[in-house]
Amino acid sequence: MVKPIIRTKQLIKRYPMEGETIVALKGIDLEIQSGEFLAVMGPSGSGKSTLMHILGLLDSLTEGTYELEGLNVSHISREMRADLRNQKIGFVFQTFNLLARSTALDNVKLPMLYLRPRINGSHKKAMEALKSVGLADRASHLPRQLSGGQQQRVAIARALVNNPALILADEPTGNLDTKTGREIMDLLSSLHERGITVIIVTHDPEIGRLTRRRILVRDGIIIQDEED
Ligand SMILES: Nc1ncnc2c1ncn2[C@@H]1O[C@H](COP(=O)(O)OP(=O)(O)OP(=O)(O)O)[C@@H](O)[C@H]1O
Ligand SMILES: [Mg+2]
Repeated sequence: MVKPIIRTKQLIKRYPMEGETIVALKGIDLEIQSGEFLAVMGPSGSGKSTLMHILGLLDSLTEGTYELEGLNVSHISREMRADLRNQKIGFVFQTFNLLARSTALDNVKLPMLYLRPRINGSHKKAMEALKSVGLADRASHLPRQLSGGQQQRVAIARALVNNPALILADEPTGNLDTKTGREIMDLLSSLHERGITVIIVTHDPEIGRLTRRRILVRDGIIIQDEED
């Protein structure tokens, strides 16, 4: 049965700055069902990354409510946010965010270091994750010994290693050429087919067209929500 994995009501995010307060999100009402494949689109500065950070429990909200898998996480502690994030959410970033001095395998192992209790067989799990993105033969390479597309696949393996319910990808194809970007989208699409909820931020309408649903954010609010 489909059930919402994400539900927000009148979500507001303010960044207090010297002089003025920036209101990055001005009341976001959003419901995302488990297993959806969704693109968040909109101009620069409209609040897309801010929304991803809050949905991904990297940042707190200012007002409103956020329920993740039915749990009200609006005002939980930083520690609890980190724990839930590790259990449920994988991130993929535009700039890959891999540790430069660690091999592909060690980068993928990283999220398991933070899990309590520690996972048995983390080596095997990391290898499986690398294999699932087609990089079993690059496990001992450093990031600089990998192409951009391969680095992003390592980042996706890292996002997958704790078996997340939700993958958040902020401009995952932004630093890649069109063909490589398409391959990364195919990979993210295959995760959606495996039942993982996948949310992608993109500027690129071509990329947005590859998902099932698109929301358009402008100036901190959702101005359009369309589904195929
Ligand atoms: N940590 C922060 N402190 C203060 N203001 C911030 C912070 N992060 C973002 N903002 C402001 O909030 C607004 C939304 O920023 P956000 O990064 O969410 O936009 P975006 O839609 O992701 O843009 P882009 O497409 O350029 O990545 C912007 O006006 C930005 O300047
Ligand atoms: Mg952004």
